[in-house]
Amino acid sequence: MSMLDDVQRVLISEEELHTRIGAVAGEMNAVYSDEDFPILVCILKGAFMFLADLTRHLTFRHELDFMEISSYGKGTTSSGAVRILLDLAANIEGRHVVVVEDIVDTGHTLDYILRNFASRNPASVRVATLLNKPSRREVEVPVDYSGCEIPNEFVIGYGLDYAEQYRNLPFIGVLKPEVYEQEL
Ligand code: IMP
Repeated sequence: MSMLDDVQRVLISEEELHTRIGAVAGEMNAVYSDEDFPILVCILKGAFMFLADLTRHLTFRHELDFMEISSYGKGTTSSGAVRILLDLAANIEGRHVVVVEDIVDTGHTLDYILRNFASRNPASVRVATLLNKPSRREVEVPVDYSGCEIPNEFVIGYGLDYAEQYRNLPFIGVLKPEVYEQEL
């Protein structure tokens, strides 16, 4: 079966994503400048496609770094337990940092990242996320730049996965519930 057969519907089209990412970049371009330029930290793996498009729209000088955080495994809900699989290469002490996330859901992952970064004494930390599911929040976390608010549905595509698949889809889609229900 094709991957597209597992998609119930397209929630955000490729075109709409590009418009939203352009808007996020515009907000960031108005804030940051070449003086005191930031490090963008891409949270792997989900944010890789967002970062790739976002960085091309940014007009200020910046560096890129990557951090991989454990996710849910095969399930679709958060355990709240978070683990670093790949740490930053850069020393962020005294630096301006932008966390680049795919989606903020319960908030546990971002909360963990922000606490962890705070202990490294950066000059500032802001958060840019492609998607935001505020109705699912369990921990209050600051979101400075957000592409789209979405309802409480499990989405895939544009970097986001289910069981490591569907990341390559160029749109954000809702997965047919039977795809993950058969795994439970
Ligand atoms: P949180 O810790 O519950 O906020 O979840 C954050 C992480 O869970 C994200 O970075 C994603 O990797 C994953 N996640 C949350 N919701 C979804 C979804 O709808 N589809 C795919 N991954 C998701």
